[in-house]
Amino acid sequence: MTQASSVTTKLGGYELRTPLVAACGTVGSVVDFAGVADLSVYGAAVAKSVSGTPWKGRPVPRLAPAGEGMLNGIGIQNPGVDAWVAEVGPHLAEVAADVWGSAVGNTAEEFANVASGLAAAGVDAIEVNLSCPNLEGGGMFALQEKASADVVAAVRAVVAIPIGAKLSPNSEDIVTVAEAVSEAGADWVVLGNTVWGAGIDIATRKPLLSGGIGGYSGRPIKPIALRCVWEVSRARPDIPILGTGGVATGDDVVEFLLAGASAVGIGTAHFASPRIGGRILAQLERYLARHDLQSVTELIGAVEEW
Ligand SMILES: Cc1cc2nc3c(=O)[nH]c(=O)nc-3n(C[C@H](O)[C@H](O)[C@H](O)COP(=O)(O)O)c2cc1C
Repeated sequence: MTQASSVTTKLGGYELRTPLVAACGTVGSVVDFAGVADLSVYGAAVAKSVSGTPWKGRPVPRLAPAGEGMLNGIGIQNPGVDAWVAEVGPHLAEVAADVWGSAVGNTAEEFANVASGLAAAGVDAIEVNLSCPNLEGGGMFALQEKASADVVAAVRAVVAIPIGAKLSPNSEDIVTVAEAVSEAGADWVVLGNTVWGAGIDIATRKPLLSGGIGGYSGRPIKPIALRCVWEVSRARPDIPILGTGGVATGDDVVEFLLAGASAVGIGTAHFASPRIGGRILAQLERYLARHDLQSVTELIGAVEEW
């Protein structure tokens, strides 16, 4: 009998039992999602972003289908780090997967405060969500390498666990931002978050989201996320990448790995099929067997150029 291929991978020094990561904001606090799907198919699952104080989010409507994808403008509704730690923290150990916390804030200090609270609660890693539109003055951290690096350095100074910096496909020069956060202490980059988008209901003439413009995710953004991964991997193959955007099949995962990702996030696909992670892992395993690969890591960055 032939040996099954290994699906273990690494993001820098952090080992993942599979390359699949349940993406932030699509699996709730993870603790609640554990009652819905088998989390053992994931290398890690990321809990919804948390800020220093409670954020009430935007009014409805804040979710809308748009073409083959989805628009969201939730505004990172969350109870704030203290309430999160009290409610979710005690249950983290019950989850059958590594759980990462996601920190968000308006200032570097707020990010650091949240990250240290999440780390003390027992999360296995911190995702620094630099790609939300909440920079003081209205911008997005991930669009500016200096602002991004300052946040990551502030988080690095207060936590010992691994840090992933979540960047934005809206970034003008994603390689420069990836280099800046890596230098500031990020162990890997997450490429990426949603793409700015909008939709209008032509009957009511109102935008599909109360905030007008929001984040577009799902199938249609895959080529954009893949381009981000490939650009960073080509320029800086030493920076570990978690590729995320539009993944719904095992073949999508293979594509991201070939482009240079070491692990791959699954987000919007969970809304149609909460148990899709198991199917994607089975498809990936079949691909590895069909191609006689001993390990999924043989695919990382193995794209061949023309
Ligand atoms: C409803 C919804 C909520 C999200 N909330 C967050 C969030 O709180 N923090 C974050 O870093 N990303 C958040 N994301 C972004 C996803 O984690 C992911 O990066 C993005 O949707 C692209 O991947 P996908 O096409 O597989 O969904 C959210 C996405 C959706 C659809």
